[in-house]
Amino acid sequence: MEDYKVKDLGLAEEGRIQLDWAEMHMPVLVRLRESRRGEEPLKGVKVSAVLHVTKETGVLMRTLKAWGAEVYLAASNPLSTQDSVAAALVEEGVHVYAWRGMSTEEYFQAIRRVAEARPDLVIDDGGDLHVLLNRELKDIAKGVIGGAEETTTGVIRLKALEREGELLYPVIAVNNAMTKFMFDNRYGTGQSTVDGILRATNILLAGKVAVVAGYGWVGRGIALRLRGMGARVIVTEVDPIRALEAVMDGFDVMPMIEAARVGDIFVTATGNRDVIRKEHMEAMKDGAILANSGHFNVEININDLESLAESKRVIRGSVTEYRLKDGRRLYLLAEGRLVNLVAAEGHPSEVMDMSFSNQALALLYLLENRGKLEPRVYEVPRSQDEQVARLKLESMGIRIDELTDEQRRYLSQA
Ligand code: NAD
Ligand code: ADE
Repeated sequence: MEDYKVKDLGLAEEGRIQLDWAEMHMPVLVRLRESRRGEEPLKGVKVSAVLHVTKETGVLMRTLKAWGAEVYLAASNPLSTQDSVAAALVEEGVHVYAWRGMSTEEYFQAIRRVAEARPDLVIDDGGDLHVLLNRELKDIAKGVIGGAEETTTGVIRLKALEREGELLYPVIAVNNAMTKFMFDNRYGTGQSTVDGILRATNILLAGKVAVVAGYGWVGRGIALRLRGMGARVIVTEVDPIRALEAVMDGFDVMPMIEAARVGDIFVTATGNRDVIRKEHMEAMKDGAILANSGHFNVEININDLESLAESKRVIRGSVTEYRLKDGRRLYLLAEGRLVNLVAAEGHPSEVMDMSFSNQALALLYLLENRGKLEPRVYEVPRSQDEQVARLKLESMGIRIDELTDEQRRYLSQA
């Protein structure tokens, strides 16, 4: 079998520079790595990962290698791979199967390839690897010590596997660590989504009407950062509590069909399907821009867009113009895939530092608790979350207070 498949090994030097740049901004992960380097806690352990192949993922892969693991890596989206990073990782001994622009078939073949490596531990972003192992490659899944899941959509899919009695190994929901979702989903996606929209379009955000669908952790971050750039932001929701929160955070809230008539830019962040569909597209203004930051490219119904259009053309790198039969033009960014990873570089290293420190610690936890965990979805231990937060604060030179003995006693009284 092939040892790797990437676009061009000649890009490795460029990738190494990017990895070093990311590493400089990921002090927590580097510190954890160095603290266990000599011990090689993953010696003899095979790890298969399906993650966006970015410079930050590269720093995680370097960490697993430094801890002695044999590492297999496939992309968690056909368009999010940074080819130079993929090449550099191959040169550093990682089995990478990823290149930007792979077809859907190649994408699933690559995931199958890392699953068939018979891993002891798995990391996934979105659940495609977990679903393949637990539904199809059950013999291999039975040998997996445990897994970790990076994103909200992946955790939802894993909980469905657990409910159906199909989950064959324990999984840590890394997404649900506070030091993950409160920073990565909110500030990471908030900044990188705006970055993706701007790199793709170079439009002025000030004064535009931006519609954000979903006011979860991702939606909150996007709404906050769009407002920060001067956009007038409308939020759409289906959950009354989150809708109320958006109202009290100062956003306009209305159904998508009403927002569709006034929006200049639409960003979906719900983890749900068909959030923008035919009836909404029919109501939109000429020139409206459509982007998605949810995990899968199902939030904007692209079939509906295709059926309404009489022609389409790519007008800039990540911008496709759909000319509708009535003459209006709608602009779809990044083919409706995660705009922050396709049109930009994903979250900045500083937030991935916490997400991937949680991933690395989750793998050690699974190994240390081998044989003691049920095939269930587990939350990240609170002590791990606090460890990551403390290390991050320390790396930023920020100190906090400690409880006095009297305060501790006071807080534990009835
Ligand atoms: P979340 O569960 O916190 O929020 C989702 C919100 O969407 C909820 O409030 C829900 O009520 C709302 N929603 C559901 N259907 C809707 C609809 N039809 N219209 C309007 N709102 C609707 O989830 P999250 O952590 O914010 O993640 C959202 C998505 O983003 C997931 O797919 C997740 O995997 C993905 N994600 C992407 C990135 C990235 O880098 N682009 C990073 C983190 C998470
Ligand atoms: N998801 C969002 N941003 C990311 C990044 N920079 N690297 C890996 N996965 C990501």
